This record gives sequence, structure tokens and C-alpha cells, in this order.
Amino acid sequence: MIQNFHYVENLYGQLYLPGDKSISHRAIMFSSMAEGKSIVKNCSNADDVKSTISCFKKLGVQFKYDEDKIIIEGRGFKNFLKPDGELYAGNSGTTARLLSGLLCAQSFESIITGDESLSKRPMMRVVEPLNSMGADIIASEKGTLPLIIKPSNKLHPINYKMKVASAQVKSAIILSALHLEDESIIIEPVPTRNHTEKLLGLKTEISDEGTKIFVSKKNYPTCIDITVPADISTAAFFIVLGLLSKDSNILIENVSLNETRTGILSVLKSMGGKIFIENELIENGEKKGDIRIMSSDLKNVDIPVELIPNIIDEIPVLSIAGVFADGKFKITNAKELRVKESDRIKALCTNFKNAGLNVNEFEDGFEVYGKVNVKKPVFESYGDHRIAMAFAVMSMLLEEGGDINNFECVSVSNPEFLNQLAALGYNSKI
Ligand code: S3P
Repeated sequence: MIQNFHYVENLYGQLYLPGDKSISHRAIMFSSMAEGKSIVKNCSNADDVKSTISCFKKLGVQFKYDEDKIIIEGRGFKNFLKPDGELYAGNSGTTARLLSGLLCAQSFESIITGDESLSKRPMMRVVEPLNSMGADIIASEKGTLPLIIKPSNKLHPINYKMKVASAQVKSAIILSALHLEDESIIIEPVPTRNHTEKLLGLKTEISDEGTKIFVSKKNYPTCIDITVPADISTAAFFIVLGLLSKDSNILIENVSLNETRTGILSVLKSMGGKIFIENELIENGEKKGDIRIMSSDLKNVDIPVELIPNIIDEIPVLSIAGVFADGKFKITNAKELRVKESDRIKALCTNFKNAGLNVNEFEDGFEVYGKVNVKKPVFESYGDHRIAMAFAVMSMLLEEGGDINNFECVSVSNPEFLNQLAALGYNSKI
């Protein structure tokens, strides 16, 4: 499906967005593991989260839907049912990687598969630490899905220093360590999103080597009643659009402001973005609040290396902000972008070049500058939701608008993107 976007002159009004995808995945997983009834409100309606739910249904967990509530009847410690057939994770890296940590501690064999994009993404980053804990996981020859996970009676605690800055890998190890009496310690030199630690109430300690995370069976999840705050990664598209369209003033309500996710706000503020937090509070250990965005003149800045894992999902839309800001946009130390839902460095550089911008591609990033000199460019989504939405934002900032090919992939994180846009007041040039 080709989706056309017109130039947006200004945006105004309030926006309510669905629950954070990362928190929703974890809320569903931990509720499924706990024994008894849990309630998850404002759960993300992303396809990725639906993949997690469908895997847990196959493991014997019951889900009931009541307005904006999901009621989950969790199975309790090591009480999942052997699934009938493969567990299909769709496009979702979080589903596949976190499930591998959980399933290696069960007493039955399981197989995790995924779609074409997920089947190309690296899985040895979870298989290697889990197998070093005594798990029995076999990946494909290329180190990808499918993962065949056999029961193991050799699972033991681990003292593991993270090799990649990845919340998915960290969480996979935590999920398996939750099944062991003795304590495992995970050391994270560079912080990544910490929703797993927060939801499970894990003890953490700052040391010279990085953050130490302590986990054992005593942290095994119990039932929860949680309202998931809105997704800052989804909000980021509207934040950039609001900053760069003229005379805009929007309020995005009840957004997760977890400090491992708000790097996008700090970078945009340091670029001159008028972003203000209102009604800040803490719920279920997670900070949240309303974000007000007003039109701003932006200038490019150096992006600190240590912030890369924090903004990893927002780099596509941040680079769009960079294109419309003064100076050159440059990002390095971000080679992880090459192994996301698409090779995001290649996807961004190709789309920028096709719009007539000057681009230099590096192994671990790129720089982009100049002016768009193609009328109504057609951008490719590469089947990647964040690329599709980033170039939707770019199209809405171009006088003649632009088109996005294969826009339907946005449902991976935000099926309601077009409706949310329509719900905001805006003046557009058609
Ligand atoms: C996620 C972690 C990040 C992020 C992904 C969601 C999570 O991946 O890019 O969209 O929910 O844990 P990595 O941890 O692999 O960097």
C-alpha cells in the first residue's frame, strides 16, 4: 500500500497514545508466568505484542478482554503447557529473545520461529549466554531463527558481563535466572532500557564495571494490576512533527518517562526543541507525564555515544529532525541499527539520497545534510515500521508532501498512526 502524506502547516490539540510496547510485552509475559489473575490496562495494540500474546496462548495461558483491560490467568512456576506446534514471534525480536530465556527453563521442547525479517536477525547474542548457563538451545547455522529449545537439567546461575548493549539479551538472561534458587549477576557496562528490572523489582547496584543486576527465583513474578503508560517511541514521531511544523502546540498525555527511554527528549531539547513535561508522577515504579511540544528552530548537535542505546529506536525520526535542523546530522557508534527490523542505516541513507540529500554512510552510522530537491519523493519503508513513520513525518514537512511505499508495516508498533494524526487538529496544504 502506498500512503500519501501532505504538507502539514501546523498541529494542535491533545493526543492519547497506546501503551508502551516494551512494557506491554513484559506485563503480558510476567502475568503469564505468575500464578493467578493479573490485569493489564492500556496494553499496546501493536502486532508485536499480539505475537507475544499468541505465543502465551499456545503455552496454555488464558486471556480475556474487557474494554481497555486484558485479564490474564497466569500458569505459575514451570507450569506452562507444551505448545502444539511452533511458537511464531512474527516480526518481534523482543518476543523471540525474551521467550528463549523463559523456555530454556521449562520441562518441554519448544521451537521459536518468526517472519522473514526476524528470521535474518542475530540470535546467538541470546543463545550464547543462555547455553553458558547450561541451557540447550540450537539456532540455525547462520545463528538465526528457528531456535530449538530443549529441556535441560543443567541450568545454573551465571555471572555475566553484557557483550552487546541490549535490553532484549539482558531480559532473556533474567527470565532464565528467575528459575534458579541461587543468584545470578548480570553486569551492564552501558545502560539499556530497564523495564524488566523495574517490573520485577530487581536489586541493582552501580559498580566500576557498570550496573550490576541481581536475580534469582525469589524475584519470580507475582500477579500484577498495571496501567501501561503511552509509548515514548511512538510519541517521538509526533514530537518531531510538532517541533518542525510551523505554529504548532500539542500535548501528548500520560507518556512513559523512564530515564532509559527519554534520551530522545534530551537530544531534541539540546537541539533547541521546546519540549515541556507536565503532570509528572511515578506509577508501578515507572515515571510518566504529559509532554508539551511547540514549534522550534532546531540546530544539529553532537550526540553522546553513551546515549545511543537509549535512543536506538528513535534514531530514524531523530535523523529526520536533523535534516530540517541547521548544520549536518551525524550519528556514529550505532551499528546495532543494521540488525533491527531492517538495516536502518541503509534504509535511511537510501531514502535520503533518493530525496536529493547529501549522505555519507559509515559502517556504524551516517551523516546527512543539504536540501530535499525532489518534488513529492517516494520513500521505501523496507517493511520496517519505524522507517515508514519517520518518512511519513518527513513527507509532512515537505511543501509538496511525499509517498511511502508499504506503509501498512506501521501496525508492527502502531496500527493507529493515521487515526492519531487525524485526531490532532492540523492545517495541511493539499
Ligand atoms: C527492546 C529493546 C531494544 C529495542 C526494541 C525493544 C525491548 O532492542 O530496539 O525495539 O523491549 O527490550 P535491543 O535490546 O536488542 O537493543
